[in-house]
Amino acid sequence: MNLSSIEAPLLNWYRKNARDLPWRHTRDPYKIWVSEIMLQQTRVEAVKPYYARFLETLPDVYALANAPEEQLLKLWEGLGYYSRVRNMQKAARTIVEAYDGRFPADPAKLQKLTGIGEYTAGAIASIAFGIPAPAVDGNVMRVVARLTGDSRDVFDPALKKEYGKRLAPYISKTDPSSYNQGLIELGATVCLPQGSARCSACALSEYCTAYREGRVEMIPAPKQQKPRKIDLRTILIIQSDTEVLVEKRPDKGLLAGLWQLPSLDGHRTEDEVLAHARRFGLDVIRIEALTPAKHIFTHIEWQMIGYRLTLSALSEIPEGMVSASLERLEADFPLPSAFSAFLPYLRKKKAKQ
Ligand code: ADE
Repeated sequence: MNLSSIEAPLLNWYRKNARDLPWRHTRDPYKIWVSEIMLQQTRVEAVKPYYARFLETLPDVYALANAPEEQLLKLWEGLGYYSRVRNMQKAARTIVEAYDGRFPADPAKLQKLTGIGEYTAGAIASIAFGIPAPAVDGNVMRVVARLTGDSRDVFDPALKKEYGKRLAPYISKTDPSSYNQGLIELGATVCLPQGSARCSACALSEYCTAYREGRVEMIPAPKQQKPRKIDLRTILIIQSDTEVLVEKRPDKGLLAGLWQLPSLDGHRTEDEVLAHARRFGLDVIRIEALTPAKHIFTHIEWQMIGYRLTLSALSEIPEGMVSASLERLEADFPLPSAFSAFLPYLRKKKAKQ
């Protein structure tokens, strides 16, 4: 397969079939960057409302550089992989300090910014600045693997680099943005994974080695899944009449530095939880077991049980915890979606009888 043949049919197809997405109405590198970072781990439909709200709140690189961390986390709440937004703020500060607030167009310079890898650098350079740099994400890997009939492991980072090098000479010089987004779009809407490829609708099928050889379903080779690590957790809703307790997670690792419902390792019995609460000086008048829940991260699965502890009053707040009204919890303490299953148990303040 000769990659040089695909430019014209790809650009024609993209111009007619590109989805109308919010980030396709701009060439502002800041906005392109925000969209690309959000899209790295999250589906297009889920990204749309986050993208709009993020840009309304933080419309440019200066606003992002100066935003308080809690605001950033609130804007990212539910998207997951919070290090993405922290890294964005670091990069924004570098852009303000080292580049006078203007994004560099050179992919090599972009790649030096925190959180911007080869893919994102290529996407920003090509979409915002019209530079013919490759932008090879998972979708593009699948498209190129099938076009070239390559059945090697597309999850190998070395292969991603190799594909970038292979594509580089063929990227459209007249419209690098549509070329790269065309490959992404083809992968996202036509050249779909495992059993869903729509080859009859594909503008590149006549150039496709896998199609010609009847190997579309074999390429890419299915991913070898490593089993997820199972973590047992006990989640506590500790509530007085008006307040609930939250605590901050450690600064490193999973969900670093985010607020959470107080949690213990392992699955604890009622008696263990009560003993723990007593040690913290909490006056528990009632404990109820909650329905267990699961949350799946990329490499870890939390299997959670929960208890609701009702306090007579909140006279003493355990070290490391903070108390908040339900209204403040919503506004000021973004809880990761891993805890969503337990939020319905937060008891609203009862009307005085
Ligand atoms: N995924 C990554 N980048 C994208 C883009 N620019 N448009 C649609 N989906 C994408």
